[in-house]
Amino acid sequence: MPISVCDRLAQLADIGGGEHGITRRAFTRDEYRARELIAGWARELACDVVQDRIGNLFVRRPGRDEGPALMFGSHLDTVVDGGAYDGAYGVVGGLCALEWMVEHGVETRRPLELAAWTGEEGSRFAVGCLGSAVYVGWEKIDDALELRDDDGVTVREAVAAQDGLLANVCVRGEFPRPAGYAELHIEQGPVLERAGIPLGVVTAIAGMYRYDVRVTGEAGHAGTVPMSVRREAFCGAAELALALETAARDIGECVATIGYVDVRPNQTNIISGEVACRIDARSVDGARLVEIDRRLHRSAGDIARRRGVGIEVECFETRVPSPLDAQLQSIVRETLDAHAWPHLAMSSGAVHDAMCLAAIAPAAMLFVPSVGGASHVGHERTEPVDLERGVAAFTQALLAIDRRL
Ligand code: GLV
Ligand code: MN
Ligand code: MN
Repeated sequence: MPISVCDRLAQLADIGGGEHGITRRAFTRDEYRARELIAGWARELACDVVQDRIGNLFVRRPGRDEGPALMFGSHLDTVVDGGAYDGAYGVVGGLCALEWMVEHGVETRRPLELAAWTGEEGSRFAVGCLGSAVYVGWEKIDDALELRDDDGVTVREAVAAQDGLLANVCVRGEFPRPAGYAELHIEQGPVLERAGIPLGVVTAIAGMYRYDVRVTGEAGHAGTVPMSVRREAFCGAAELALALETAARDIGECVATIGYVDVRPNQTNIISGEVACRIDARSVDGARLVEIDRRLHRSAGDIARRRGVGIEVECFETRVPSPLDAQLQSIVRETLDAHAWPHLAMSSGAVHDAMCLAAIAPAAMLFVPSVGGASHVGHERTEPVDLERGVAAFTQALLAIDRRL
């Protein structure tokens, strides 16, 4: 008896759920439990489960031929206080696609491989798409294993800890190149809902630059140091945030966010001496990212000089915009047309594991609407009818890709 995508998502949502949302950061007990749940469901479908050294989990179903697999999937980790659908939908939806094929006795030409990629959100180890970036060679495995979380724990230590990799699951040493890759995901924005169209075929994924910024001023007594001689780190950081906001608005079709700020010593009656923050800037147009990078460095220099504070800006992650494969897009569009499922061509402002996979294989993405466009928040939601339709459309798209690629 098949388990519906909504029931599976509800079971997954119980893992890591809290008052404000769901938190499943990479290599934590809850992320491990999520993997266990997927692995258990995979075994019920008589599929093999393997993982690699960075913790990517693969569910394999043989095809008629051997050779490179048709891969699909998404991620099980979440942002802090995130929703039940981002990433989870792509993994669970992929599993439902496999289940449909098993139930209907449908064989594929190629082996199928459902992936649950490690640490897509970067909510523990800062680098986004950690597992898929290692898989495609953007990050070297040995460097990735040395990344530290905010408590100083390395990926290597987290992997070695009891919760790192699933017990009793074989670890695959290589990162075999797939024949193609497809990812089912919630849109995470308002475009489909506003257009009243249930499916989005993704044309390109935005590029992203991420920076560590350290502003150094001078801590002091909040009551005694005159305004004229202060060097307040927080004010320097705040001015940089506003300059960045203006730059993103001026440049257009790009977004910039300072979502992480750490103020020291963070006391009501002490002038801030140091601020660490992170910037996340995105656009589907690489030239706009280059321009925001230029404006950021220029503003940092101006503000530092004028305020007498130090501002260091270090780019720690650079992802160029990723156009998705034209042939796969038309296969997906034609499949949706054949079933009279309306669809829209659209770009993605969120990054996805498909961005990395697109570097080594033809890649496609299918979106379903997000209620109110909300995502990365606990109340993220997609209507059950849209979730079900998305899985049905994705299943048929996978079969079409297998036939035609
Ligand atoms: C991940 O969802 C991201 O776009 O940051
Ligand atoms: Mn996601
Ligand atoms: Mn996300």
